[in-house]
Amino acid sequence: MVPVPADAGDGALRHRDPFAAFVTDDASRQAAVTAANEQGWTGAPIAEGGVAAAVESLGDVPTPRMLLIDISESADPFRDLSRLAEVCQEGTRVIALGKVNDVDMFRRLIQAGVDDYLVKPVNATALSRAFTSLGRERANLREASAPGKLVVVVGARGGIGTTTLAANLAWLVAHEQNKRSMLVDLDLHFGGLALAFDIEPSRGLAEALHNPGRIDDLLIERAAVKVDKQLSVLCAEEGLERAVHVDSAAIEALMGRLRAGFDCVVVDLPRAMLAAHAHLVAAADAVMVVTDYTLLAARDCTRVLKRVRDAQPKGKVMLIAGRVGAPGHGEIARADLEKMLDAKIDAEIPHDAKSAGASAETGKLLVVVASSGKAAGAVRAMAALVLGGDGATVKLPLWRRLLSKES
Ligand SMILES: Nc1ncnc2c1ncn2[C@@H]1O[C@H](COP(=O)(O)OP(=O)(O)OP(=O)(O)O)[C@@H](O)[C@H]1O
Ligand SMILES: [Mg+2]
Repeated sequence: MVPVPADAGDGALRHRDPFAAFVTDDASRQAAVTAANEQGWTGAPIAEGGVAAAVESLGDVPTPRMLLIDISESADPFRDLSRLAEVCQEGTRVIALGKVNDVDMFRRLIQAGVDDYLVKPVNATALSRAFTSLGRERANLREASAPGKLVVVVGARGGIGTTTLAANLAWLVAHEQNKRSMLVDLDLHFGGLALAFDIEPSRGLAEALHNPGRIDDLLIERAAVKVDKQLSVLCAEEGLERAVHVDSAAIEALMGRLRAGFDCVVVDLPRAMLAAHAHLVAAADAVMVVTDYTLLAARDCTRVLKRVRDAQPKGKVMLIAGRVGAPGHGEIARADLEKMLDAKIDAEIPHDAKSAGASAETGKLLVVVASSGKAAGAVRAMAALVLGGDGATVKLPLWRRLLSKES
């Protein structure tokens, strides 16, 4: 769910009730009444029924800001929740209540747009804690006036690990630096992110990028695929029969919206788009240019670096060497490449066939399946360089570690 950066000033949100609950048993109803009173939501509607009743009741009234929805009696909770999403206003926080105590269920619910999931029987203390925690997140969003960081990753050549870097960097920023992140793949025909995350490509991204007038939070919310609570992805796999014109104003509008709603936006930018969209590089807080140690890269990277520098980026430009040591690549010496490029390599990602193989076999990112591998270590250090932190693994709460294993 794309968060609403501020709800003051948005007249429509002011008239929304703070809370409503739809529960199917007496114990949950009692807990909801007590917890709602503790939050100061006295008299809030606590209705009998589950998600179907919620869809029916909320169809044409302003949606309360926080909803507690019992899904335990729904035959297909995901279908019902998607119907609920259609009638809910943006910015609604949803806590689902169910009987199934299972991490996979939790992960799928979060992907479906639910903000938290509690297993029955539930008491007032647990509910109160969940309300407070989501309310605090909302308050933080409201206070966050600074736009999220924009990191652009561009490869000087193909097949040297640029997408791998972008995806793993975004995951680390999201989960180890605890920043809500959005990863955008602007290669609308051949982008590799859907495959890397084992997700369906987003619908509507290509149309949106064709037409700046169509970019709004609702479209982003629909097109973005939520990998988990911390990380979302925008990507496409357009058919080759279809040329996609990407409008610069649409990219700017998209980035503006994303940076208002996320702490960090990582863009995988195809090098061919540098000609028309150097404005993206100019606006970035960090630009990572990826090269390898070959003569061909020296030629291409010179041109990419020139275009990047000409765009006068306000953020730092980092030169990264990817898949260093890959057999059969005909590498030249680092110092020779640096001389040809007239630039220093800031960091290297070693060729790490073991981690890349484990990632391909499992359909999971290499920072997840090979967290202590050579490549993951290098990307972790880069995340720290680009966005702060010390590059060390942060101890995550148990539920987040379970989620990471699942994602
Ligand atoms: N550090 C690494 N060690 C070994 N293999 C890697 C490494 N990084 C990426 N790979 C592998 O190299 C291949 C290409 O990676 P990736 O798609 O990230 O490159 P790319 O530069 O984005 O390519 P494209 O030009 O298709 O966009 C993939 O099979 C990936 O698993
Ligand atoms: Mg790529």
